[in-house]
Amino acid sequence: MQGFHTIIEPFRIKSVEALKFTTREQREEALRRADYNVFKLRGDDVLVDLLTDSGTGAMSSAQWGALMQGDESYAGSRSFYRFEAAVRDLTGFTHIIPTHQGRAAERILFHTILHPGMIVPNNNHFDTTRANIEVEEADARDMVIDEGRHPAVIHPFKGNMDVRALEALLERDADRVPLVMVTVTNNSGGGQPVSLANLRAVRAVCDRFEKPLFLDACRFAENAWFIKQREDGYADKTPREIAREMFALADGCTMSAKKDGLANIGGFLAMNSDAWAEQCRTLLILTEGFPTYGGLAGYDLEAIARGLEEVVEEPYLKYRIRSTEYLAEKVSGAGVPIIQPAGGHAVYIDARAMLPHITPLQYPGIALVNALYVEGGVRGVEIGTVMFGLCPDGTERAGDMDLVRLAIPRRVYTQSHIDYVAEVVIGVWKKRQQLKGYRITQAPPVLRHFTAAFAPLG
Ligand SMILES: Cc1ncc(COP(=O)(O)O)c(C=O)c1O
Repeated sequence: MQGFHTIIEPFRIKSVEALKFTTREQREEALRRADYNVFKLRGDDVLVDLLTDSGTGAMSSAQWGALMQGDESYAGSRSFYRFEAAVRDLTGFTHIIPTHQGRAAERILFHTILHPGMIVPNNNHFDTTRANIEVEEADARDMVIDEGRHPAVIHPFKGNMDVRALEALLERDADRVPLVMVTVTNNSGGGQPVSLANLRAVRAVCDRFEKPLFLDACRFAENAWFIKQREDGYADKTPREIAREMFALADGCTMSAKKDGLANIGGFLAMNSDAWAEQCRTLLILTEGFPTYGGLAGYDLEAIARGLEEVVEEPYLKYRIRSTEYLAEKVSGAGVPIIQPAGGHAVYIDARAMLPHITPLQYPGIALVNALYVEGGVRGVEIGTVMFGLCPDGTERAGDMDLVRLAIPRRVYTQSHIDYVAEVVIGVWKKRQQLKGYRITQAPPVLRHFTAAFAPLG
């Protein structure tokens, strides 16, 4: 609303879900039962769930209405054509391949195009992206700009790719690189945006070496909003126009519709290459389903088609980015070290800086995540040594950073929930010296953070 300072939620609530309140003793017991891994908690034992912004959003009444329009034909469903038109109108890509979520798109793409020894450059690979590359015995190479590796450094586009490093890689090893990826916004690097200038520079390098450029487009709309706010020449463009410009620079994308598709499930793989698309569709039939449903129900396709329209609406994006920034301002105002500036979908606490007495291999991120849960029933996630420190040869190293991500589900929590979260974070910050590290007692060889068991040290 013009003339007013307060940015209110651009929706009203039609249906509510009750929260369960627990005591500190109950939370301590629940955490012990979960092997000190918050992924293993029952959702009902969590008060404010900031584990992820993936698939946790609230759908609009228009999306719920669209569910009833779902056409469940096995082949050629009307809902597929509506979905395909919505995705094509936004991205401009020729082939639109639905999948049940983002990692399925990654799995299909990488299994189709990678061979052992290949390299995939990205600003920062997300954990499932990295795992789907490494499982093909290829190398997932992170090439974010140097500013993106330092939590306290302020830069408007900390997700940008280091174009010189990309160029140097391609000069050395072009024959080992089948495609270049850029993640918008850069989740593993703090939800930081990538500028259009950077995307254009990456495109120019890809053209020089004749490499396709793919976007990991999970949060394309949030990225577009940051471009509108921060990049010269874009203030008067709509988020949709900016998003189209981003996609026009790429040859394809992987997408989890559980983020900026505003849906609870779904994703897609999109591309211009006829040859790759044909091979991907063959694998899709093997693992996901027929190409017009790809592991989704007709009603899911309807919800995504509508979600892709709503997610680029300006009042939504303004509120979305502001509520994340609001939490960041509250906690950093109290002294809590966070990645600056605030990311689009989450606030990332620098657990390594907050808990210098806990070494990276004693997992400061896990110590902080568990303390937030015990303190106030808030569930975040470690993005650090547990998630990224296990090497393919089985050895362990410190992750580049030890972060705790508090991801904000879309359209779910109100400002008072966020005020409460800030209070919990600041409460833990005040007792940070009492926090202790953890050791792993049992873990699988890949994606260990989901199921590892921990024990507190000391
Ligand atoms: C940047 C990025 N890429 C890929 C994925 C994987 O998507 P999904 O969880 O739908 O498999 C995620 C999920 O959080 C993500 O943030």
